[in-house]
Amino acid sequence: MKIFVYHTPELTPENQVPDCAVVIDVLRATTTIATAINGGAKSVKAFSDIDLLLAESEVLLAKERLRLGERGGKKVESCDMGNSPLDCTREIVEGKQLFISTTNGTRALQRVQNADVVMTAAMINYGAAVKYIKSNHPEIVWLVGSGWEGGYSLEDTVCAGAIASELIDYNNVDMIGNDEVISAIALYHQWKDNLEDLFALASHGQRLLRLNLVEDLKYCAQKNIMDILPMQKQKNTLVFTN
Ligand code: MLT
Repeated sequence: MKIFVYHTPELTPENQVPDCAVVIDVLRATTTIATAINGGAKSVKAFSDIDLLLAESEVLLAKERLRLGERGGKKVESCDMGNSPLDCTREIVEGKQLFISTTNGTRALQRVQNADVVMTAAMINYGAAVKYIKSNHPEIVWLVGSGWEGGYSLEDTVCAGAIASELIDYNNVDMIGNDEVISAIALYHQWKDNLEDLFALASHGQRLLRLNLVEDLKYCAQKNIMDILPMQKQKNTLVFTN
C-alpha cells in the first residue's frame, strides 16, 4: 500500500485515479455527511453547482428530500438547510435523500469521483476509514483535503494525519507516497489532544466563529464518535456502510 496526502482538490493529480480516495472536509461537509448518514439519511448526493442540485432534487417530493446548501459558511437561501452537522438530527434526516452543495467539500468529492472506491472522513468517523483500508488493502490510497478556495486548511490535513498515522509503517518507506504524509502526521501528533484549539486557529474555524458557530467547531473536533463510513455508490452519491 502507498499513501498520498493532497491538501486541496487543486493539488490532486488530474488524469489519474487511486484505488481508494478518502475525501476530507472536517469543517464541515464530511462531518455533516457522516452525521446525516448516521442519523438514517438514505443517501447524500453532492453537487458543486447549486442550480444543478435544485434541478435534480426537484424529481422527489419535498417530504422525501432535504436540500443543504452552503457558501462562505452561510446557508444558501434556496435550500432547506445550511451545512451544520448539528442540524442533521435523526428527526430531521431519517429516511430522506439529501442533496448537498458546499464551497469546497463537494468540489473535492467531484475531483476524485472516478476512483474505484471513494469514501468521506472527518474527525468524528475517521476510524471507520482506517478500518476499511486496513481490511481491504487498496494499493494506492489518496487522502484528499478540501481546503478553502484552493488554499491549505489545517483541519483537513490534521485529519489526513490521523488516518495516515494509523496506516503507515515507518519501517516500510515505500508506503509513504509524498512528503505531505509525514507533515500531516506531525501536525496530528502536535494537536491530537487539542483539536478544538487548532480549529479555532484555522482560517475557516475563525470564519465559523465569526458566524457564532462555536458549537459546530466543538462537534467537529470530536474523535471517532460514530462508526460510520459514507461510501460512494454512484458518482457523488454517498451511502451508509460500516
Ligand atoms: C466547505 O465545503 O467549504 C465547507 O464544508 C464549508 C462549511 O460549511 O463550513
